[in-house]
Amino acid sequence: MRNKHQTANTREQRATRNQHRSFILWFTGLSGAGKSSLAEYLEGCLFERDCNTFILDGDNVRQGLCTDLQFSDEDRSENIRRIGEVSLLFIDAGVITLAAFISPFRADRDQVRSLVPEDDFIEIYCQASLEICEQRDVKGLYKKARRGEIIDFTGISSPYEAPINPEIRLDTGHHSLEQCADEIMAYLLQHGYLS
Ligand code: ADX
Repeated sequence: MRNKHQTANTREQRATRNQHRSFILWFTGLSGAGKSSLAEYLEGCLFERDCNTFILDGDNVRQGLCTDLQFSDEDRSENIRRIGEVSLLFIDAGVITLAAFISPFRADRDQVRSLVPEDDFIEIYCQASLEICEQRDVKGLYKKARRGEIIDFTGISSPYEAPINPEIRLDTGHHSLEQCADEIMAYLLQHGYLS
């Protein structure tokens, strides 16, 4: 964690003004596991509670900040590094940050975790089997990957390292968005992130 005394003060002030603290909800899992959908659904729940939130996902990051990056191991690490830095700024700004990225490498996720105070990083493993994700194939990318039209595709030709000890593990392969969001909300309330 970086030592930024001044920011720590302003962060506290923002939390008081917002009437909630800020933290990172980090959704990791295979493509099609439901990370972005769940982040959007949960954001709706948080919005109803007057929380300040923002979603970072492939749609708004890979087309702008990370448009120069592809899907090699190195580029994915750099993608996650940049997103980690942006998330850090967002929580300094008092915003509950929902980051939804495959983020396939444990070391990269842990690197983001190490940027912030211990409790501020909540890793949410959206666990759905490759079979289920491939069956859903919302964007038709698995088919293309199987045909060899996309290289380095996570789960097919590029690895995914599942979290060993995530704060929250969700069965997004079988449970509804609502069920999964309820589990996250319960965690946040039980652990004092929300009141
Ligand atoms: S990450 O590995 O760097 O975390 P990220 O979450 O930003 O990946 O982007 C993943 C999304 O990009 C997928 O959901 C999919 O829509 C798309 N995509 C395009 N090419 C690939 C690929 N080779 N591997 C995985 N996802 C890909």
